[in-house]
Amino acid sequence: MTSNRKLMVMPGDGIGPEVINETLRLVDWLAKHRSLNFDIIERDVGGKSYDLHGTPLTDEALADALGCDAVLFGAVGGPQYDDLDFEVKPERGLLTLRKELDLFANLRPAIVFPPLVEASSLKPDIVKGLDIMILRELTGGVYFAEPRGIEALPDGTKKGYDTNLYTTPEIERIGRVAFDLSRKRNGKVTSVEKANVMLSGVLWREVMTELHKNEGDDIKLEHMFADNCAMQLVRAPKQFDVIVCDNLFGDMLSDCAAMLTGSLGMLPSASLGAPNKDGLRKAMYEPVHGSAPDITGKGIANPLAQVLSFTMMLRYSFDHSEEADLIEDAVSDALSSGARTPDLGGGSKKVSTSEMMDLVMKSMNQNSV
Ligand code: NAD
Ligand code: IPM
Ligand code: MN
Repeated sequence: MTSNRKLMVMPGDGIGPEVINETLRLVDWLAKHRSLNFDIIERDVGGKSYDLHGTPLTDEALADALGCDAVLFGAVGGPQYDDLDFEVKPERGLLTLRKELDLFANLRPAIVFPPLVEASSLKPDIVKGLDIMILRELTGGVYFAEPRGIEALPDGTKKGYDTNLYTTPEIERIGRVAFDLSRKRNGKVTSVEKANVMLSGVLWREVMTELHKNEGDDIKLEHMFADNCAMQLVRAPKQFDVIVCDNLFGDMLSDCAAMLTGSLGMLPSASLGAPNKDGLRKAMYEPVHGSAPDITGKGIANPLAQVLSFTMMLRYSFDHSEEADLIEDAVSDALSSGARTPDLGGGSKKVSTSEMMDLVMKSMNQNSV
């Protein structure tokens, strides 16, 4: 008998707990109907952790996360924390987890579910059938590089600065993930930087070109400047298969890609580390969206980005693609029924967070008999 999978759940702030609670209904369902069992531990993170423990991530919570097979993460942040010192802001809890677990590869798939073609702010023929993968480098670049600071200048003004920095191995390891992903998809990688103005971008392009020559001649590699990529994403997104880019460009391009799918509330993500000698890797699964303070407590958050992050976990950490398919089909059924949380617009029936999940669970029950 295999031992239970150890799952760390970190709901966080704002709508994080709302969408996590609904997603955990899937854990109960899988235990009951599929004998697929998870041992769950829950820990505070972000503003909630700061309020209770004075830090957005305690050492104990970090150690517990390191000891789990996967982390399911909600969202952190909120306006009440805006004036906190930089080092104790809620977002720092998330960034520390990414860094300490060495989750360098962030997979952000943008897939348009057929019933949501009309929900996109773009014309239907531009987004219909869209299935692209944004691969964001997650532990380097301007998010972490030193030096950074705010310093006083002699004239009484200040300077604020950050550093963007990538090394050859950092670029190579994310490039390899891009090539591997595209081999299981349509065999095309678009590497995105601004080599026209940034030296870190010049190195990025050089390393990707060399890696392609040595390890990726079965893949079509193209290079694109990040500003053009943002434009191309809304002009003709289906030209892309895998987009690979640095931490900051990946943050921005993935929010942009979210609107192709109908809502930021639809975009999941998987943050993966390198496999160890047994082939196991650290992993965290989190929606691309944030804590959505404007709708917190109203019961109207779209739970599907969190649900789809859970299905990514079933696929990438636990090799349970059959159950992932079942849940994704149920999401599709729920949307086909015309149900829409308010962020999606359209449809024939406005639903709450829990009503959307009721429909997903109903479809799973029907489809699994
Ligand atoms: P946000 O993603 O929280 O919200 C942007 C807009 O999208 C809002 O109008 C919100 O209502 C809507 N939205 C987001 N998710 C939704 C969902 N599931 N259902 C329906 N509508 C949804 O971004 P923001 O407002 O710029 O940031 C708010 C806070 O969240 C900030 O503190 C920010 O730092 C933090 N944040 C956290 C994460 C994370 O934890 N991974 C990601 C992004 C932002
Ligand atoms: C995301 C978020 C985070 C980021 C913040 C909350 C640190 O915007 O996951 O996209 O910038 O990476
Ligand atoms: Mn973001």
